[in-house]
Amino acid sequence: MTTPNTAVKIGKLTLRNPIVTGSGTFGFGPEMANIVDLNKLGAVVVKSTSREARLGNPTPRIVETPSGILNAIGLQNSGVDNFIAEKLPFLRNYDVPIIVNLVGTEVADYVHLAEKLTAAGGVHGLEINISCPNVSHGCDFAVDPVLTAELIREVRKVTDLTLITKLSPNVTDMVLIARAAVDAGSDALSLINTLIGTAIDIRRRKFRLANITGGLSGPAVKPIALRCVWQVHRALPNVPLIGMGGIMSATDAVEFLLAGATAVAIGTATFVNPTAATDVAAGLEAYLVENGINDVNALVGAVTQ
Ligand SMILES: Cc1cc2nc3c(=O)[nH]c(=O)nc-3n(C[C@H](O)[C@H](O)[C@H](O)COP(=O)(O)O)c2cc1C
Repeated sequence: MTTPNTAVKIGKLTLRNPIVTGSGTFGFGPEMANIVDLNKLGAVVVKSTSREARLGNPTPRIVETPSGILNAIGLQNSGVDNFIAEKLPFLRNYDVPIIVNLVGTEVADYVHLAEKLTAAGGVHGLEINISCPNVSHGCDFAVDPVLTAELIREVRKVTDLTLITKLSPNVTDMVLIARAAVDAGSDALSLINTLIGTAIDIRRRKFRLANITGGLSGPAVKPIALRCVWQVHRALPNVPLIGMGGIMSATDAVEFLLAGATAVAIGTATFVNPTAATDVAAGLEAYLVENGINDVNALVGAVTQ
């Protein structure tokens, strides 16, 4: 059998394989480049970037849970100007699409970030993290289809880059938000962000996280993430999805593709095994060969009852 096709399309982007990094779990690239060959990834999704530098939340901000972690990092980053001046030049040396994850508290913040990153050159896609409180409305963009649509519509006006809206599972109906984002101009969707949880130390009778609540990720969330991908794919079958949530192995990745994801992100797994992303890419290719599948796209949404 000839080598199977592993390339997939997400908006205007062609990824050499469906494996990308989960925002916030792979730094900005340089932290991992000595361990992982970035040129073997489908894309590098960097940590959330905001208008101004953010110090993040007080510590402790990571707690281990059965089959997962709770994190309350608080979107620590050194700001968009620093990203463009100091991190992007490093990433431009690689032959891999760079997707920057954006965060803000007002629509204007995201528009500013999208304009700057589009003008900078060397950025291929923008992932819009809508799991952020909108200061004008007092709730996350992600919980309201009207706020989500307004945000994506305004960002769409200022950039031709591939736009990916990152959905939150902390909503009543994820399909409603997915549809609002796509109708407003999002080329693709990524899902899921973390689920809100907490943990308590009974000896000290205190919350384990300084922030009290944090986002749950890792294998514990996989069945929920898989269900979300399947629901959104069923409602919007032509929209490319980047699935994530507890993917630890090529087997997990194949499950997400079968549920309807076109690509998948490796997040928490990287903390357990730093080469998880490229290991999953190699494992996926081996699965295609072993099963006589000549194009990875044949798996997308191919699950049956
Ligand atoms: C320590 C940590 C930091 C994260 N930081 C971000 C972030 O900055 N922006 C974002 O959109 N998602 C962030 N995430 C969420 C992940 O990108 C991903 O959506 C989630 O963890 C589910 O995938 P996983 O179970 O494979 O980790 C973070 C997750 C973890 C564990």
